[in-house]
Amino acid sequence: MAEMVPVLTIDGPSGAGKGTVSRALAKRLGWHFLDSGALYRALALSAMAQGIPPEDEDRVAALAAQMQLEFGGQSGERVLVDGRDVTDLLATEECGRVASKIAALAKVRQALLEKQRAFRQAPGLVADGRDMGTVVFPDAPYKVFLTATLKERARRRFLQLKAQGLDVNLDQIIKDLEERDRRDRERKQAPLVPAQDAVIIDSSDLCVEEVVDRILALLPPEIGKRCCQS
Ligand code: DC
Repeated sequence: MAEMVPVLTIDGPSGAGKGTVSRALAKRLGWHFLDSGALYRALALSAMAQGIPPEDEDRVAALAAQMQLEFGGQSGERVLVDGRDVTDLLATEECGRVASKIAALAKVRQALLEKQRAFRQAPGLVADGRDMGTVVFPDAPYKVFLTATLKERARRRFLQLKAQGLDVNLDQIIKDLEERDRRDRERKQAPLVPAQDAVIIDSSDLCVEEVVDRILALLPPEIGKRCCQS
């Protein structure tokens, strides 16, 4: 039964390092990985391509229900929508901004709920997002809320986008992050808040390996041992 499969949820604001840390954890544990932000970004991309405005809840929700999303590549790093690899189109700030807007729509979140739960497969799942521990997998046994200061998150996002060859401006990134954080935190549907039973980790002064080790230390020794042997 899917409910028996362990889930480690990693929620937090944009740029806190959730993606890198979650992928590293999934690899170390040999578990599946769900990048739920990619679902919202892929949906935003499809809506933009079809000229559907982000405010049109019914049409965006219908699109969400139809969309076939898969993760491919060696460690699930490629995102395929209806069989087409759209990974390189999802990183832009515009895509993130539209994703944040459509993510505030109740019908859209509902349409994506079961798609996300379907990723819960043996031997386990690392789920990265905003509401993984609160709404999508409230019964997950292991929950982390990963955060960092706005300045540090903006700095990381700047370096990440620059490495992808995008033309970026730090002040604009700070503004975008602030706006996106506010929308994600203040929305009525599944707002960005730590689950009551989540462990909060501030990654501002930690490197990826330190964060990964802190999270692995939260898991029971039998899981930790298995992962260290592999
Ligand atoms: O993690 P990300 O930046 O790729 O996410 C893009 C947007 O999607 C983010 O602004 C909020 C939304 N999102 C959400 O509402 N719930 C999730 N579980 C994941 C992302």
